[in-house]
Amino acid sequence: MSARHSRQVFVKPVVPFAWTIRGGLVPGETVLVEGRVPPDADRFQVDLTCGSGVSPRADVLFHFNPRLKKGHVVCNTLQDGRWGPEEILRGVPFAAGAAFELMVLVLRDGFKVAVNGAHLLDYKHRLALERADTLAVSGKVHVAAVAVLSPATGVTTPVRTGERGADEEGEKAEARLRTVASGDGGFLGELVGGLRERVSVVIRGRALREAESFAVDLLVGENGDTALRFNPRFGSQTLALNSFLSGSWGDEERRVDDYPFGPGLYFEVIFRCEADRFRVAVNGVHRLDYKYRVPDLRRITRLRVTGDLSLTDVCLM
Ligand code: GAL
Repeated sequence: MSARHSRQVFVKPVVPFAWTIRGGLVPGETVLVEGRVPPDADRFQVDLTCGSGVSPRADVLFHFNPRLKKGHVVCNTLQDGRWGPEEILRGVPFAAGAAFELMVLVLRDGFKVAVNGAHLLDYKHRLALERADTLAVSGKVHVAAVAVLSPATGVTTPVRTGERGADEEGEKAEARLRTVASGDGGFLGELVGGLRERVSVVIRGRALREAESFAVDLLVGENGDTALRFNPRFGSQTLALNSFLSGSWGDEERRVDDYPFGPGLYFEVIFRCEADRFRVAVNGVHRLDYKYRVPDLRRITRLRVTGDLSLTDVCLM
């Protein structure tokens, strides 16, 4: 992931799901599926489909279907409700009970599939690539994350920043985030005009495989105070929150049950500014609240992310 960035990520989807790939797929992009095969799995499928219609059934540009009990992988295309000739690969690179990383590299004339870093098969397009706009996963499989990765650029630019409505509203957007510095070492951004109620700060990324901790800091621009440090600690499986005001840390607030991060796993953290507190959600689930110790949100004008993670997205909503 170091030389690519994800333009779209979906964490812990419930299987089966159909996920719209914004803007479709273009050659050079990669569809990533991270998951685990349950011990009793017989088959599952990862399909790139043309919409998600049921009646009539959407065409399936690429059907990737490991059949574990039969010991082979079937690939095929469904058009007008009919399957074409199957392309069968003997052997299955997925072990029951084991985690996997499936990467489907999109080429102009076909797909290149790799599992756990090793090339597995090629599949030539039978329908126009532009028609594929949905990733559907079904069958016996657990999915940790799916992502669409943009082509490697050779330069590490892992962070996309933006804010809702920026394209349409430009300067009128309620709150804006301006990147000051970003790279492998983390991210520093300016929250132009400070935070305000109903704005959410969204951080998406992936914890490093050997992650010990990372930190998201909401900083008071003018004096070095930290209005909120959100600090997941992988060793003790703790979410620790605190503020650094007038030269010292305050009382730490912790949540120790049900730690939502894992080494090597994608995550999404959302800090929503309510009237008197931050509401913190991880992977779509509300985890905790943190009462403001810097109640004037407009003074919070910097966002910093550091630690054992690779960022994919930092934005305001
Ligand atoms: C059929 C099966 C479908 C699909 C297809 C691929 O036998 O019912 O789910 O896997 O093969 O050719």
